[in-house]
Parts: sequence; C-alpha cells; structure tokens
Amino acid sequence: MNYSRVAGTGSYLPEKIVTNADLEKILDTSDQWIRERTGICERRVARADETSSDMAEVAGRRAMEAAATDPQEIGLIVVGTTTPDLVFPSTACLLQARLGLPDCGAMDVNAACSGFLYALSIADKYIRCGDAKKALVIGVDKLTAMIDWNDRGTAVLFGDGAGAVVLEASDEAGILSTHIHAAGRHSGLLGVDVGVSTGFKAEPGGGVRMKMKGNEVFKVAVRTLGRIVDETLEHNQMEQSDLDWLIPHQANYRIITATARKLGMTMDQVVVTVDKHGNTSAGSVPLALDAAARSGKIKRGEILLLEAFGGGFTWASALIKY
Ligand code: ACO
Repeated sequence: MNYSRVAGTGSYLPEKIVTNADLEKILDTSDQWIRERTGICERRVARADETSSDMAEVAGRRAMEAAATDPQEIGLIVVGTTTPDLVFPSTACLLQARLGLPDCGAMDVNAACSGFLYALSIADKYIRCGDAKKALVIGVDKLTAMIDWNDRGTAVLFGDGAGAVVLEASDEAGILSTHIHAAGRHSGLLGVDVGVSTGFKAEPGGGVRMKMKGNEVFKVAVRTLGRIVDETLEHNQMEQSDLDWLIPHQANYRIITATARKLGMTMDQVVVTVDKHGNTSAGSVPLALDAAARSGKIKRGEILLLEAFGGGFTWASALIKY
C-alpha cells in the first residue's frame, strides 16, 4: 500500500456568532465594506475558556466517526496550529490523551494558515513510507485570542474553528501530491511579535496581538497561490480541466476568485465558506473540505485541489483524488 487516502472528515465551529453588524458597533467599519472587500458576513468566536484542543477534539472525533475508525487504530497525530493551548505539551499530545489514541507519534506544526496542509503533507509521507497505517490530521486555531479588537484592519477578518481528516493507507492513490513552501523574508508583513525566547515582551498595554500589512499580504498571496497551483498541476502532468473542485484557504473572497480565474474554473467548482466563518487560519481548509464532503458536493473519485497561504509567509497545496 503505497498511498494515503482521505477516509473521513470532521469539523467544529464555536457557538457564538459575531456578525458584521456587531462589529459596526465597536469599530469604524461597515457591513458593506467587509462584504465587498472580503466576502465575510459573520465569524465564530470561541468562549474564553474554550481552547484549541477543545475545538480539535470535537473535529477529530467527528472525522474518526466518519471514517469508521477506532481511536486505537491511529498511528500518528499531526496538528496544524499557531494557537496551542500551552507552550508544551503540544496540542497533539493533549489530544492524543483526550481522544484515547495509542502511544503513537504526536506533533504540532506551526505554519499559520497553511498549518493543515503542512500537517497533511507530513502524515501522507509517514503513511506512504509504511511507518503509519492511519493518521489523524487536524487544523485548528483560536486567532480571536490574539486579535486587537480596536484594529479594523485585522479584527473583521478572523474567526475560530477546527477541521480534521483521517488518512489511511491505500493501494490506490488518494493524495496525489503535496507541496509546501515558505519565505521567511516576509516575516514582517504578518505575525505576532511576542514569544517565549523573546521574553514575552509585548508593546505597553498590548498583550499578544496580531499585526498585518493587509494590502501587501494580499498581493503576495494572489501571486504565490497562482504559482503553486501551476506547480501542483505540472507535478501531476494534469491540465486545469482535470480539476473537479478547488478547496481554497478561506481568507478573502477576492483572493479565492483570483485563484479560480487563474485555473479557468467557474465559482460553482469552488468551495466557499469564508462568508460564514471568516479566516479560521489552520482550521480553514479542513472546515471547507468537511462542509463539501458532508453536503455531498464533492463525490468519491473527483479531483480536488486544496491550497493555503499564511504568515511566515508559508504556502502549500495538495492534489487529492477523493
Ligand atoms: N472597514 C472599513 N475600512 C477599512 C477597514 C475596515 N474594516 N479596514 C481597512 N479599511 C480602509 C483602510 O484604512 C483604507 O482606507 P484609506 O484608503 O482611506 O487609506 C481602505 O479601507 C483600503 O484599505 P486596504 O488595506 O487597501 O484594503 P484592501 O482592499 O487591501 O482590503 C484586506 C484589506 C481585506 C485586509 C485585504 O488586504 C486582505 O484580505 N489581505 C490578505 C489577508 C490574508 O489573506 N492574510 C493571510 C492569511 S492570515 C494568517 O496567516 C494568520
């Protein structure tokens, strides 16, 4: 068995909905501006006591149930997250205990919004080389914990959530290829400049806050995603017309349409969920994948192109025969 395939998906969104109208009350912004510039209508915000591992646990259980997988069968857990519950143990270790997984390898991957696709690429390789038969791959973030609610440039964009897949070994190709990249030279355009080895020194009164030069991030994202979809198709010697679905990172509707246009795809071939939960960072791609799977939109045997772009910068893609 030389391949991995997606055996089941799951996801979780916190209960609390914050609409654009709610944000109009606390920020100098408008529903119209947010919809026109981003496509976002509402986002979910986790409770103060609700952690990334709380959200990931529900998504993980749902994925294992959909895959008819007993937790004891899981041979690896990889979690893409930038908002771990603790510095350590990792979110993956916390989840391993909570989900009753065996003593398999457990690790977090920090690649911001590309975290899930980075995690998927690692799990796919472990399965391909025969070191694991089944893997639980999760993308989760609670970015609202790092939002400056006075900064209209970032506060309107983000929400919380988790998505998960069970990957299993297969004789037939499921994951056709994965591709990961990073360009650390752009680290100043998007990030949180507070950390353990810098002594947690935040700006006075600031706390842990995300900063983003949105306009510059937007341009690099569109260019970079255009390049990675070309790379993915070339690697598999496929044409744009071979694709059935684009499942993009849900950051901004305009970035999504630009990528779809580049691929010559119509918007009814694109899974869009950004309107309902904003940018959930590492949760975004698996949330969209799960929504498409559960609604019956995507069918077994179809070709899916997944892509993401995030802080670092990082960017990644996966081509999947579902
Ligand atoms: N409401 C009203 N006006 C606003 C808001 C707001 N929420 N935010 C900014 N504006 C104003 C600006 O001040 C500016 O006003 P000015 O012209 O008077 O100076 C005007 O709107 C235009 O601002 P831009 O920043 O040029 O707007 P843009 O069209 O670029 O949209 C946005 C901003 C939505 C942030 C966009 O740039 C974007 O989506 N960037 C990419 C975000 C992203 O994908 N991040 C990557 C992943 S995140 C991660 O990894 C954690």
